[in-house]
Amino acid sequence: MTTPTIELKPTARPLSDTEREAILADPGFGRFFTDHMVTIRWTEGRGWHDAQLEPYAPLSMDPANMTLHYAQTIFEGLKAYRRPDGTVASFRPRANAERFQTSARRLAMPELPVETFIEACDALVQQDKAWVPAHGESSLYLRPFMIATENGLGVKPANEYLFLVIASPAGAYFSGGVKPVSIWLSEDRVRAVPGGMGDAKTGGNYAASLLAQAEAAEKGCEQVAYLDAVEHKWVEELGGMNLYFVYGNKIVTPSLTGSLLPGITRDSLLTLARDLGYEAEEARVSIDDWKNHTADGSLTEVFACGTAAVITPVGLVKSAGAEWTQGDGEPGKVTMRLREALLGLQTGAESDTHGWMHEL
Ligand code: PLP
Ligand code: COI
Repeated sequence: MTTPTIELKPTARPLSDTEREAILADPGFGRFFTDHMVTIRWTEGRGWHDAQLEPYAPLSMDPANMTLHYAQTIFEGLKAYRRPDGTVASFRPRANAERFQTSARRLAMPELPVETFIEACDALVQQDKAWVPAHGESSLYLRPFMIATENGLGVKPANEYLFLVIASPAGAYFSGGVKPVSIWLSEDRVRAVPGGMGDAKTGGNYAASLLAQAEAAEKGCEQVAYLDAVEHKWVEELGGMNLYFVYGNKIVTPSLTGSLLPGITRDSLLTLARDLGYEAEEARVSIDDWKNHTADGSLTEVFACGTAAVITPVGLVKSAGAEWTQGDGEPGKVTMRLREALLGLQTGAESDTHGWMHEL
């Protein structure tokens, strides 16, 4: 066996204005990172300490780092937008900070104070403001996360942690603009179980989704819809997005069962939809409801929602025994109206009547 040559890449930070502008012209999603990051350490007996805003750089890690073995890790995702007047604001960072605390509790990790979470995100956005895209629905995606930093192979909560925030300019999550996605209904593989950690934002849930995602791709689908783990009949969510079902003037999202993520976009849409005159409710939705109500025409549209993907229409659904087109397979009217309202508020084109935007 030959040994591969290891390429040594110099870290050239900050990037030049020209390099940054080239990236911002077509950032995609999660491919490029800004010049800085925030790090804050936690040590048992000492609490949170050594908060730093530093150049974006690789982390050095012991091979016995506990995160690498037992996955004690949590993350968040939120966006900062540049508004028409040039100012920058992030969307509901407090809600992300609170969910981060919930995830921390579930993973037996220390809770970062809400204000520290918000300050850390603000500090990074202030420092790397030039990286906030200025066109259309583009944004700066912030990825706060926490890992265990203790080394050792004993299975127990670590006694040291590192919290970080990195940022990545984001265009559309799905390339090709707003086009409906195809969904594979996974009737045997589940993402999370009752009493498990499906409502925490932790890496293990995403690892658990990858095989079903690969199977979906083999069936020609872009995303997987997971069902509940007990009866295999109740629709829960996608691997990285919540779902909404549109019945004419009413929108319905699956109830929070403990095994799906309480999405902040999902929550915001319950309110925004009511503002626009729709009925909006949380309820259990079965695959039979999905299939039969599409067939009888009462289920007019289905869409997915999340920070990264915003609102994305569902165009085609496939399962082992069935396949159907959602509506006419094109983005639906209600879906697009909600999308416009949400993005309008986030980008500053519409007024922020709920005080959701956090100005920097
Ligand atoms: N469900 C999962 C599994 C997710 O990863 C995400 C993304 O964050 C969502 C739903 C949507 O949540 P939010 O709207 O808070 O981004
Ligand atoms: C988000 O929308 O923030 C997500 O976390 C989804 C995905 C990128 C994991």
